[in-house]
Amino acid sequence: MGFEKNMGSLPRDVVPRGSTRRRGHSKNWSSQRVRIFDTTLRDGEQTPRVFLTTEEKLTIAKALDELGVDTIEAGFPISSRGEREAVKQIAHARLNAEICGLARTDTQDVEAVLDCDVDLAHIFIATSDIHLKNKLKMKREEVKSRAVSSIEYAKSHGVKVEFSCEDATRTDVNFLKEMCIAAQDAGADRINLPDTVGVSSSSKMSNIIKEAKKVTSIPLSVHCHDDLGLAVANSLAGVRAGARQVEATINGLGERAGNAALEEVVMALEILEGIQTQIDTRKLNQVSRLVSRLTGIQVQPNKAIVGENAFAHEAGIHAHGVLEAPSTYEAMSPDIVGKSTDIVIGKHTGKHAVKNKFDVYGFKLDDEQLKQALEQIKGLANANKHITDDDLIAIGWNLIGKVPNEKRRLRLDECTVLTGLNLTPTATIAITLNGETKRYSQVGVGPIDAAVNALKSIAAEGVAMEEYKLNAITGGADALCEVTVKLKGKNGKAPIAIGRSVKPDIVLASVEATVEALNRLLMTREDK
Ligand code: KIV
Ligand code: ZN
Repeated sequence: MGFEKNMGSLPRDVVPRGSTRRRGHSKNWSSQRVRIFDTTLRDGEQTPRVFLTTEEKLTIAKALDELGVDTIEAGFPISSRGEREAVKQIAHARLNAEICGLARTDTQDVEAVLDCDVDLAHIFIATSDIHLKNKLKMKREEVKSRAVSSIEYAKSHGVKVEFSCEDATRTDVNFLKEMCIAAQDAGADRINLPDTVGVSSSSKMSNIIKEAKKVTSIPLSVHCHDDLGLAVANSLAGVRAGARQVEATINGLGERAGNAALEEVVMALEILEGIQTQIDTRKLNQVSRLVSRLTGIQVQPNKAIVGENAFAHEAGIHAHGVLEAPSTYEAMSPDIVGKSTDIVIGKHTGKHAVKNKFDVYGFKLDDEQLKQALEQIKGLANANKHITDDDLIAIGWNLIGKVPNEKRRLRLDECTVLTGLNLTPTATIAITLNGETKRYSQVGVGPIDAAVNALKSIAAEGVAMEEYKLNAITGGADALCEVTVKLKGKNGKAPIAIGRSVKPDIVLASVEATVEALNRLLMTREDK
């Protein structure tokens, strides 16, 4: 049965879609750049065991919009009432990106997409013989006629249409070209040629784009799956052959082994091909983390661009190189994608990395101390211990101890705290800074906060508390407590300084540790 017959039974108002919203990115089909069609919320959500609520989809859609994707495929409206609601809300969220919904060449599917007020209907039908025979049980002519009818129907309702030949890379190339011509003649605005099963080589992908280009004049798009780990490479091959749009997902989420990872496609296009996209690459890491958190799919540490280890270096030779000139071992500057270089201390660490870490903490180690620190670190690492910042601080502290007396610019003279029920915790601190005595009172959410606030207001302009850690060393109400504080310049650039104090009084331990850290910070600044 032809598709038009189905349509005939469904009279509906013809309403131009998407005309009330501004869609900044969607019009841009310049030959200088490649459009990014994000399908995290559709193909990405098809990742086994992933489910997103409407609210979560909306949060991700807003983040994708800020990232600068050209199109957001918001979902597959026919699949459930909830999905339809989510797509509709995204379409009404006044985003810049073009909003798209997916439909098979079925009446109800296209209707469901139109109901969501999207800008673009993404209509697909399989075109490979293997799908025609085993899944659709249709002849080629029927497939073509369904595609044509559904494209014409969607177009007559004022939406743009992207048409996809599912399993394009396994489709007979002559039939693929016939389908492309038919889709273009029916009014499709662009044609997508997916490697649905992720089995194409890059040369095959390149070839089908070139063949499709011979018979069409509308833009072509690629959509590659990663079953052989080639999704990004095949997407690039498609672009080199003339595709003007790449479909991708954040973190490479998607059916089975996933889709081409958006962050990898974008960076590879920029770095290898010199092709710009509209993506604000500095937001890539943040969006990757958001998607990982909301989908519950963790990003593997060695994942390109956004993995935890993507810019981490442990081996001595590498860390040394990166500390001298990052380009020795980094493919791009990490800040371009919102990350930073991480020098990891472990079994393979060399002295340059250790020195750099201790410098950052404000511990000035001489050559002999550095040698001892390295020995202790290797000893811990060889005992299979993961070396944390706390381990390094303990090692540094044992080697150099407190700031020497002659270098102390700050001295704590007095500290009084008042706290109780129905009383705002207040602290008064007196200190001597560079020989001058100062006194100040401050309030806080508790006595420690009040005391540290008082101290900061006298002596620590532009300094922020990066971390505060409290450990009870002994048990009982009279336990000794150990306080470690890490301070950092508010601009994030000044070195971290560490202070530590052990006392039975938790407030005094906190104040002393902060004074120690401030002395170290002042000493480090002076030494520069
Ligand atoms: O992989 C695929 O073929 C798809 C289509 C719906 C475009 O996801
Ligand atoms: Zn897909």
